[in-house]
Amino acid sequence: MTDDDLIAAARSAAAQSYSPYSQFPVGAALLFADGSVVTGTNIENASYGLALCAETVAVSKAMADGVRGGLVKVAVTGPDDRGGGDPITPCGRCRQVLNELAQLGGTDPEILCVGPNEVRRTTMSALLPDAFGPASLS
Ligand code: THU
Repeated sequence: MTDDDLIAAARSAAAQSYSPYSQFPVGAALLFADGSVVTGTNIENASYGLALCAETVAVSKAMADGVRGGLVKVAVTGPDDRGGGDPITPCGRCRQVLNELAQLGGTDPEILCVGPNEVRRTTMSALLPDAFGPASLS
């Protein structure tokens, strides 16, 4: 699974976005240590505040299937014609949700923030330093 493959998986997930209110389709693809990929896309609601982000949907799908770690890389894509050409980065809530899965497996996943002109590479720990996670409760 190359980075381009992971990004393509995120873009493909975004094609299923249910975002009639924002018209802002987002895709997320999670790569696990065993090579498996789980994708998600944003799902909005007529009650606007109930929107589910792509990353949260992807983590929910993985955890509902019993995955509890092994997260090594994440790709996030937004619409290429919005945001002034900058890549989108996971929102604050999604950082926390991604961190839960990462910390369960003791990994610090690379996060590929994909824009129309560049792929910005960062890490979970850079996006959410001093994170509150499962270890904080023990
Ligand atoms: N959105 C995501 O799916 N992920 C993020 O990290 C940021 C925002 C979605 C939520 C909403 O459906 C749309 O983008 C506009 O905010």
